[in-house]
Amino acid sequence: MYYPDEIIEEVRSKNDIVDVISGYVRLQKKGANYVGLCPFHNEKTGSFSVSRSKQMFYCFGCHEGGNVITFIMKYENATFSEALEKLAERASITLPKYELSEEQKRKAGKKNLLLEINKEAARYFYYQLRGNSGKHGMDYFLKRQLSEETINAFGLGFALPFGDDLVKYLKSKDYKDADIIEAGLASFDEKRGLHDKFWNRVMFPIQDINHRVIGFGGRVMGEGEPKYLNSPETPVFDKSRNLFGLNFARSSKKDYLILCEGYMDVIAMHQAGFKEAVASLGTAFTSGQANLLKRFCNSVILSYDSDGAGTSAALRAIGILREVDLNAKVLDLKPYKDPDEFIKNLGREAFEERINTAKNSFFFETEVLEKGFDLKDPQEKTSFYREIAKKICGFADEVERNNYIDAVCERYNISADAMKKMVISYAASGIVRPEQTIKSGVKKADPAEGRKQAQRLLITWMSEERDIFDRISEYISPSDFTEELYRRVAERMFDSFNSGTPFEAASLVSLTQDEDEQKEIARLFNTKLTGLNGLPVEIDDVRDKEKALHDILISVKTASLEYHSQNIGSDPDAIKKVLEDKKLLDDLKKTKIKLGGDNRHG
Ligand code: GTP
Ligand code: MN
Repeated sequence: MYYPDEIIEEVRSKNDIVDVISGYVRLQKKGANYVGLCPFHNEKTGSFSVSRSKQMFYCFGCHEGGNVITFIMKYENATFSEALEKLAERASITLPKYELSEEQKRKAGKKNLLLEINKEAARYFYYQLRGNSGKHGMDYFLKRQLSEETINAFGLGFALPFGDDLVKYLKSKDYKDADIIEAGLASFDEKRGLHDKFWNRVMFPIQDINHRVIGFGGRVMGEGEPKYLNSPETPVFDKSRNLFGLNFARSSKKDYLILCEGYMDVIAMHQAGFKEAVASLGTAFTSGQANLLKRFCNSVILSYDSDGAGTSAALRAIGILREVDLNAKVLDLKPYKDPDEFIKNLGREAFEERINTAKNSFFFETEVLEKGFDLKDPQEKTSFYREIAKKICGFADEVERNNYIDAVCERYNISADAMKKMVISYAASGIVRPEQTIKSGVKKADPAEGRKQAQRLLITWMSEERDIFDRISEYISPSDFTEELYRRVAERMFDSFNSGTPFEAASLVSLTQDEDEQKEIARLFNTKLTGLNGLPVEIDDVRDKEKALHDILISVKTASLEYHSQNIGSDPDAIKKVLEDKKLLDDLKKTKIKLGGDNRHG
C-alpha cells in the first residue's frame, strides 16, 4: 500500500505518541518528557524518552528513535504501511483502499518490496515444512532434536525438491521476475528459465534485529555440497551488519552475548535456555557486527568450533571485538566440536559451567601462541616472552597492563620485573601503537564523518530556536547539506520556517519509510547542542553559543563549497552559484553571528 503524505500526517497527528507508547511501556513524567525502560534494548535504568511536544521518542542508550509510526514499526515488527493501518484504526480514520500501481510500488521503496518478498517466501517455506510434502524436512529437524516449539519460534521452513516452486508462488502474488531475483530467491538462465535458488533444503530464515526476514540459509538434509546455501547480499541483506538470532538475544537479561558459528548452534542454545546466543551469517565476523553487538552487551563469549579453523576464527574475532572495546572470553567445548553437539551430549548444566569458566581472551591468545614455540629451547622461549610483551603493550591502561603482567608471569613462571622491562622497551620503540591509539580514543578523524557531523549539528541547532534560523538563513540553503537525507530534512525545515507554518519535527520522520533513516532523523532532534568538538554548549552563555554556531556554519559552508566545486561541470548556473557561495563564505568568516539578547545574563 502506498499512502499520500497528507494521510500519513493525519494519522500521525491524531495518535498522540505519549498515549500510544503508554500502552506498551510504563512511562513516568520527568520534566517536559516521559521516561521509561527502553523496549528495544536490555536496561535497568530508563534511557527511553518520549516527548509530547516533539511527538517523538528517543533512547539515549541504544539510539533508537522516531515518531509514533516508527515506534509501532519497531515494536510490532511491522512494515510502514502496517503500522500506519494500525494507527489509523486506533484513531478511527478510514484509509483509502487501492492497490499499488507500478509507480507507487517504486515510490514505496525498493527495500520494502524486497522485505515483503522475503516475508512471503518465509511464509511459503514455513507452510511447506508443516505440510505432507515437507515431511522429509520435518523429520530432519526432529532427528536433530529440535522441539516443535523451537521449530516454530525460529520460523524454520522447507524448500520443496522442485526447481521453480517458490518462483511460481511469488509470481502468483504478482511479484515481478526482476524483483524476485533481486531478493536473492531466484536466478535466470537460458536452460531453466527463472528458477528457485533454494530447493530440497531445510530453511533458516535470517531476521534483522526488528524481526524482519532479510534472507535465508538453506541446509542439505544429510550429505551434499554446499552444506549451507545462503541468500546473496541484497539491498536488505547486509551480511556484515546482521547476526542470526540477535532479534531474540537482544532481549535476553544477561549483560553478555554468546557468539558462535552456526545457525544450528544458535538454535540449540536457545532451545536449551541460552537465549543470548547469536551467529554470523556464513561469513567471517566483521567490525560492523561488533558494533552491533556493542549496542546490546558489554562482553561477548566466543563459542567457536574447537577445531583449527574455529580457533583462527576466534583469534580474529577477539581482535575485532577489542577494537570496539568489547571484552571477550572464549568457551572451551572440548571434547565436542560445537555448542550444538556439546549440549546434546552433556546437557545444559555442563554448558552453563563452561560459560562460567570461559577463558579470558588474552590467555586464549597466549595459549595458542605458546603452541607455536618449543619452550624447552631457550631462544624460542625468549621469542615467546617477547610476543607476550608485545601483546601486553596493546593495553592502554597501566593498571590493566600490570595486572596482565602479573597474571602471565605467574602462569609461565617469568620474573615480573623482566617482563615489565620488556614491555616498556616495546612501548618505547613504538612498534605497537595501533591498538593504543584506538583505545585512548585518539582516532584519526574521518573527513566524511566530520562533514556529516557538522551538517547534523546545524540542523539540530536550527530546530532548537527559531531565532538561530533567522540569523543564519542568509548564509545557508538546503543545497549546502550534501548528505541526501539531511538535505531532504533541511528543505522541509526551510520551507516551513520561510512560510511561517509551524515546524513539526515528528512529521519529518515520515519523509522516509526506512527505519534506519527514521532513527537518524529522530537523532537530529534529540541531541544536545554541541560544538564541532562534541563538547556541550552552555545554553545560557550567548558568546559560547555564537562561537560554536559560527564554527559549525563555516565548516558546513566550506564542505559544501568543496563539494559543489568538484561537481560543477560546465553549467553556468552552477558556476555562478559556486562563486556566490565563495563570497558568502568569505563574508561569513568576517562576520560575527549574533544571537538574540534574551538569554544574555548579567
Ligand atoms: P550443522 O552441520 O548443521 O550442525 O551446522 P554447523 O553450524 O555445525 O555447520 P558448520 O560448523 O559446518 O558451519 C557453520 C556455519 O558456517 C553455518 O551455520 C553456515 O552459516 C556456514 N556454512 C557452513 N557450510 C557452508 C557452506 O557450504 N557454504 C556457506 N556459504 N556457508 C556455510
Ligand atoms: Mn553443528
